[in-house]
Amino acid sequence: MTKRRVVLSALAIPMLAPARASPEAGLPEGGPGLGAIAATRGILYGAAVGAAHIANPAFAAAVRRECAIIVGENDFKWRPTQPQPDQPTFGRADAVAGFAAENRLRLRGHTMIWQESLPPWVTERLSAGRAVAEATIRARASVMAARYRGRIMTWDVVNEAVGGDNTGPEMMRDTPFHRALGESFLDIAFAAAREADPDARLAYNDFGLEQAVPWQDQHRSAVLRLLERLLSRGVPVDTLGIQAHLQTEWAFDATVLSRFLRDVAGLGLHIEITELDVDDRALPAAIEPRDAAVADLTRRFLDVALAERRVDVVMTWGLSDRHSWLSRTPSRQRADGNRQRGLPLDEEFRRKPMWQAMAEAFRSAPPRG
Ligand code: XIL
Repeated sequence: MTKRRVVLSALAIPMLAPARASPEAGLPEGGPGLGAIAATRGILYGAAVGAAHIANPAFAAAVRRECAIIVGENDFKWRPTQPQPDQPTFGRADAVAGFAAENRLRLRGHTMIWQESLPPWVTERLSAGRAVAEATIRARASVMAARYRGRIMTWDVVNEAVGGDNTGPEMMRDTPFHRALGESFLDIAFAAAREADPDARLAYNDFGLEQAVPWQDQHRSAVLRLLERLLSRGVPVDTLGIQAHLQTEWAFDATVLSRFLRDVAGLGLHIEITELDVDDRALPAAIEPRDAAVADLTRRFLDVALAERRVDVVMTWGLSDRHSWLSRTPSRQRADGNRQRGLPLDEEFRRKPMWQAMAEAFRSAPPRG
């Protein structure tokens, strides 16, 4: 891997000039956005946005043009919304929710319970005994569900609870929640969310479910087993959120993904694609072939995902390469210093081949009931 990176970045040196979009031959500048195209098949398309990003009028216009639904990328997480136990700070989350309301966009909620973005006071309370841990989780789910009651289509109640190192036989992730309460932390959170917002869909959301690599095979079966256990205990989970952070260097196998989707649908759950993007670190810098490879993987993934009728929401994790977490997160940055190009719009909010691949995948999808 390291060796390969070095070779690729050496090849990429002449390309270090600021990334410029390839000539966008054949890409419609105007015309319906992805949200409108997906809607013709009964599918909701939208993107993760930040409160800071939608304050930019050009970006806000792009969101209005392309999206039928949005989700706060970070603004609803625990740290920004409750940095101190007695001082909730909902300003950024409210700005995202307000933007959705003003523009008649649907809204997803992300996320109530996750081991990242945890304020230190929460970590302390989670290790203060079962009763305190349980009350802390219940309060978090109730407060978020109640505040946005009636406005959220789907809540990611619990995020990323499976996998990682130090897992036991059930492959539950070793987190402060699991250490405090075992698997029952999910039961507590889902019950509180259902009680406080009975009409929202409640999702378990996770990554590593899409591609044909051994750790994802294990992840898929561990998540399936978790969902089965939750349902058998009567936990009110309605939806599996499949993050879909795809990587061009990993194999994709249509049969593997469609079998998994069929298994999940067989449990009676909805399925939402919640964080689609394509990590292009393994591709050389040249923009045209890079964009083509990103578009190709997107199309292959969406064709399989959308063939399963229980999939009725598709979100990308950002709309424009300008804001992608892949370029902001050190561990995901390209070795050559170029921006990642894993979202449907380029950094100037122009449609890219990935946009075209998504539009075509939506147009070819079987209509939802
Ligand atoms: C990421 C954001 O995009 C980053 O800005 C932030 O620094 C870390 O979190 N899975 C999730 C998302 O469920 O919440 C993560 O979002 C990406 C991985």
